Amino acid sequence: MDERKIIIAIDGPAGSGKSTTARCVAQHFKYVYIDTGAMYRAITFAALRFNLYPDNHEKINELLETTSISLKRNETGEQRTFVNEEDVTPHIRSKEVSENVSYFSSVSRIREAMVEIQRKLGQKGGIVMDGRDIGTVVFPNADLKIFLVASLEQRAKRRIAELPAQSIVMSFDEVVENIRQRDLLDSSRDHSPLMKASDAIEIDTSYLTIEEQTEKIIVLAENIIRRKSL
Ligand code: CDP
Repeated sequence: MDERKIIIAIDGPAGSGKSTTARCVAQHFKYVYIDTGAMYRAITFAALRFNLYPDNHEKINELLETTSISLKRNETGEQRTFVNEEDVTPHIRSKEVSENVSYFSSVSRIREAMVEIQRKLGQKGGIVMDGRDIGTVVFPNADLKIFLVASLEQRAKRRIAELPAQSIVMSFDEVVENIRQRDLLDSSRDHSPLMKASDAIEIDTSYLTIEEQTEKIIVLAENIIRRKSL
């Protein structure tokens, strides 16, 4: 493993700018970007297709045994999410998945399965991984841990702006309610809740542009890479 290829963990609540920022930081360093939320969304999509409930542990176990979740890049470098061989990318941001994902992602077996995949993907370093528990559980020894926050209003505004491109119709109030509900469920679950790691650096992105927040993280990462190269 090349010691200079570090692991950057970016955690934070819905709409705090994790995905876009993480993708830009990864591009800068020519690292691999891993969107762990897409994995939880994909398993939720698969569970909903079979009308499963999060508390039906037997059926959830069966689903996990017969389902592989993977992330692949297409020719343009864009991340696509697969359930077995099916590209489910167009479906995982739907209103139905958004409304159910936090229930499924609180199931211990689901978390264990996803974390196992995430650790394998990141073990060689040279990655930027975003999610809720990357700095606390997936990579507690990550070289750089960032915790992004922003006001609920700003986060909802950002999310609403993304929806037309994804052909999703949701009102502003529905988006606010979905974010509020997910924040609550994600932060209060027993298994690896959304939480700032004690050694994470918090950045409030409410009034920052993507370029500004990306730049802040790049500077922090460059300092760490420089120290590792000495
Ligand atoms: O993009 P957005 O912030 O809306 O959410 P996401 O990153 O796509 O994550 C969707 C949901 O997956 C979250 O609300 C969490 O319930 C769950 N999740 C998780 O539990 N752990 C992670 N590492 C990533 C996502």
